[in-house]
Order: sequence, then C-alpha cells, then structure tokens
Amino acid sequence: MCGIVGYIGKKDAAPILLEGLKKLEYRGYDSAGIAVQEKQGIALVKKKGKLNSLEEILKQKSPRGNVGIGHTRWATHGKPSTPNSHPHQSSEGEFVVVHNGIIENYLELKNQLKKEGYVFDSETDTEVIPNLISKFYQGNIEEAVRKAVDLLEGSYAIAVLSKKEKEKIVAVRKDSPLIIGLGEDEYFIGSDIPAILDHTRNVYILDDNEMAVLEHQGVKTYTVEGEELDKEIFNVDWEASMAEKGGYDHFMLKEIHEQPETVKNCINGRLTETDVKFEGFTMDQEELNKYNKIYIVACGTAYNSGLVGKYAIEKLARVPVEVAIASEFRYRDPIVDENTLVIVVSQSGETADTLAAVRESKAKGARIIGICNVVGSTIARESDDVIYIHAGPEIAVASTKAYIGMITVQYLLAIYFARIKGLLADDKSREIISSFKQIPEQIKEVLEKNEAEIKAQIDNYADRENIFYIGRGLDNAVVEEASLKLKEISYIHAESYPAGELKHGTLALVEEGVPVIAVATQTDVIDKTLSNIKEVKARDGVVTAVVTEGVKDLDDIDFRFEIPATNELLAGILSTVPLQLLAYYIAVERECAIDQPRNLAKSVTVE
Ligand code: F6R
Repeated sequence: MCGIVGYIGKKDAAPILLEGLKKLEYRGYDSAGIAVQEKQGIALVKKKGKLNSLEEILKQKSPRGNVGIGHTRWATHGKPSTPNSHPHQSSEGEFVVVHNGIIENYLELKNQLKKEGYVFDSETDTEVIPNLISKFYQGNIEEAVRKAVDLLEGSYAIAVLSKKEKEKIVAVRKDSPLIIGLGEDEYFIGSDIPAILDHTRNVYILDDNEMAVLEHQGVKTYTVEGEELDKEIFNVDWEASMAEKGGYDHFMLKEIHEQPETVKNCINGRLTETDVKFEGFTMDQEELNKYNKIYIVACGTAYNSGLVGKYAIEKLARVPVEVAIASEFRYRDPIVDENTLVIVVSQSGETADTLAAVRESKAKGARIIGICNVVGSTIARESDDVIYIHAGPEIAVASTKAYIGMITVQYLLAIYFARIKGLLADDKSREIISSFKQIPEQIKEVLEKNEAEIKAQIDNYADRENIFYIGRGLDNAVVEEASLKLKEISYIHAESYPAGELKHGTLALVEEGVPVIAVATQTDVIDKTLSNIKEVKARDGVVTAVVTEGVKDLDDIDFRFEIPATNELLAGILSTVPLQLLAYYIAVERECAIDQPRNLAKSVTVE
C-alpha cells in the first residue's frame, strides 16, 4: 500500500530518496516523507499530499547526509495528514521508521507502551514500531529490531534509522515486499524494483522474516532469528526507460501502447507449431484428469481476467472453472482439496486477499498455479508453480497491459490443458497458435485504426452520468473489465451485463442519449446481441459496438470500433484494446488524475 526507500553511500541521500519515491508513487500517494542522518541528528521532513508537496519543502531546505529512508503513503490507520505521514520516530526521537503494511495488534501494543511512558504523535499503527525498538535497545540495533518485530502481528516491510548507530539502516519484512539494491559502495532499499533501477540492477529480494543490515562496507542478510544468510543476487533485466513514461502523457496510455510487446513477451518461447510449453511448469494427463474443478482466484482486473480464462479453459479443456473473488473466497470455507486446481492471478503478486487465498488453498491440499507479473513477489514464491506474464513494470494504477498479459497466459493454459487431455487436435491447435502469433501486430492495428476516431467521438460519452456495457459469452467477460476501467479512471458510473440480462431490469435506466457499449465478436451469439442492441435503440439509447471488421447488418449502431479477424476465442485480447482507449480518453476529457485515480492504490497489501 505504501512505498519505502532507503539509501546509504557517499552521495547526498535526500535527492536519491525523492527520486526513488517518485518511482513508487503508484503504491500510495496521500503523503510522503524522508529522514536523513545529519551531523546533529536525524532530520525528518514530511508532508501531507502528493510527492510534489514534499519536493517543494525540500527545494527550500533539504537535509544533508549520506544515509536516509523515505516513504510514500496510502492511508490505512489514520487519515492522510502530516502527523500520520512517515517516517515515524520513537518518543525520545532516537529511532526512526518507515513501514509498509498493517500492524494488526498495534492498539494493544500502543496501550502498553503508553503505560510505560511512551508518547504518541499520530493515529498510525506504525508508531508502535520505533517505540518498541527504543524500549528494547541495549546497544545493538539489530537485536532491538528483532525483539520489536517479534511482538508484531500483521504485515510489515520496515526500514529503521537510529541516532545511536548512525551509519546503518536495518530493514526487515513479513508479508510486504522489500528489495535491497547493491551498487558500488552504495546500497538501496525499495518496495519495488523501479525505485532502485537508476542505480543498480543487482538486488536481493528479501523473503518473509528476513532482515538486511546496510552499512557503508556492504549488506548482510539474516533470518529474523539472527542466522546469517547467503542470499542469491537477482539481476534485473528491465530497461530503466521501461519504467518511465516514454513520451506519453500518462503511464496508462504508454502501457496500452506497450501491449503488442506484452503479448509477444508472453508467448515468446512458449509456442511450438501445435503446442504450448512453460518453463519450469508441467502437468501430465493423469494429474489433470484428477482435478474435477479449477478455481481462478483474484481481485479486480485480475479477477476479470479470470472470466476470460474460465471461458477459454472450459471451451477448450472441458474442465469446470469457477472464478472467485479472493476477498470472499477464504471466508466461505471453499470446497477445495487435493482434487482441485487453484489458479491465482495477480499483477503485483502481493495482493493481501489473493495471498490469503493461496495460503487457504494450500492448507487444503490444492495445487496452486500463480500467474504474476512481479518476479519474486510473495504470491509467485508461495505458489507451487508460477507463470509470469512478463509485462514489465506497470505503473498506472489502472491495469491495462497486465490484464492483457493475464488473459494471454490463461489462453495459453487453456490450450495447454486441452492438448494434455487430447481434446484439441493438431490442426485446430495449429490454427489457434498461428492466430496467436498474429495478435501483437493486430493490437498495433487496433491502436492505429481506432485511436484518432475515439478521440474525435469523445464528446458523446465524456459528460454522461451512466454508461452501460453489454456482451454475451466471451464478450461478456471483456465488458466486465471494460466497465471497471471506465469507472476507476473517469468516475463515471459504469456497469456491464450479459446482453440478454439488460431486459430483466437495467433496461429501465436506458432513455434518450444513454450510451450503451456492446461487444459483439462471437458469431454464435451475434444475432442475439444485435436483438439486444435493438432493444436499446428502441429506448433511444446511443449504441457503440466493437465488432470484427467486415461484419455487416449493423444498422442500429451509432458508432463502431473494428478489430481485425482472428480465431474468435482470441478476440478477447483485441476487443479489449479500443475500450481501454475509450476509457482513457474519456478520463482525459474529464481532466481526471488518470495514473493515480482517487482512493485507489496499485498494490493492495491489506485486506
Ligand atoms: C484495476 C486494478 C485492480 C487490480 C487489483 C488486483 O485496474 O488494477 O483492480 O487488478 O487490485 O491487483 P493484483 O493484480 O496486483 O493482485
């Protein structure tokens, strides 16, 4: 939910921390702060608001020193305010902490600490941490941090500075991501790789209950019990420019335009002429036959990707699939056992509800396949197998390229399962795979053909209060995601329906001028969808349709976005793209904060 950074080296820490925080702003952006070791003590600067509020203060007067930590916040405990911003310090100011996560037992700890004379300045759960460290400090900061985290229940990635041991940062994690960047005589802390990518490509990815101690002479890693570790260095092969806006007005638009690359990266090395293979993941027929049910568990856009996955897997591999919302799944005592296959989908690999579903399913004996973007993330590591979507860093809060990567992997899995079961003959498989290979170029075509027209038509949608989306079958899965995209970035009320369902209630809301967006790419149901479009037109609604080029007989349609012909199963990838653009340009017209929509954060590591 929040982003943390740290630096120790020979350079001025403050500008490095600020730059690192800018790369992490997608993790939270209601307040920010830094703490830097100065000769006289630790200088703390923090401010409510986006990072530029902090930047303005630092322009006037920036702390000077070579060791520091920083934080960008997304409020959980305590409203967005300067006192609630991180870093937080112990009552006597000796220990300073930044924290990402939630301390579930903080009230109990806070009450106890208050009785012992500690004074609290904020409403946060975090403030108990520096005070516990202060309580346990007896000349060894690592030891004090160990004792403090031993009392914490919940999730945390923390970085600690102390006035007592100035040339050192101690970091520890449990259930919140944390990486350590290893430069030349300088070392970094980040919640995520983009924070350190301008400085180094060599990182340690800390696992749960691991601690790192950063000093000028190097970094040592330990278990939280104090046993020294020999951690493997992970070399990041992302280009730094990949994490920048690359000339687009918003990360979201850049990421929409990166989607041909996303699909390419996702299918690269995984397709033969007739088959799909995944590095490090196999399943034989006997095992697949054992599974009488597949769950796809995820949140938000990742959940919507599962709707496409369900459609493809059921269609090709004939195994029943249920798509489950992760936050509901674990509390409903799901019927999961060793005969259930659980596919969890998560861009960040850190979503708390999805992670909880992984653990719940694992405890019940299911095999877990993780579909993730962030390499080395917690869900990726805790799943039995992980298939990466290779979308590169996704910075815009509203997911676009990660969604395309997620559905691409699920299409691949559907083919893979169908081939194992012997349900997809060579010629059929060859046909789908050959269509798959054309998808990256076809996405480019969709972007080129539709973008200017969408911009030109934007007035028809931008001032509306409600927009409805309809589709049948696969198209219905697509409109679920399209409507989420619109509402989260434009704040227009949008809903999606199976097209035939409109007349069972929502049609009552359709009156003159109400926009209804239909996706109609599936020939087996297109006539039915066209009838539903007529129902809308009869109430003077304004219909936009996403259809395959060459489709005729669409007299009732006011606006039309075309996608190139492909194997119909794969149309879900192409039909998504114009609707992402539509949402984007509506939000531009409404002057919304596109990359950072109100109330939302990129990585939701709390329940
Ligand atoms: C919406 C969006 C969210 C995420 C959801 C799950 O555009 O991005 O709905 O899909 O928070 O996140 P991950 O995929 O990281 O588990």
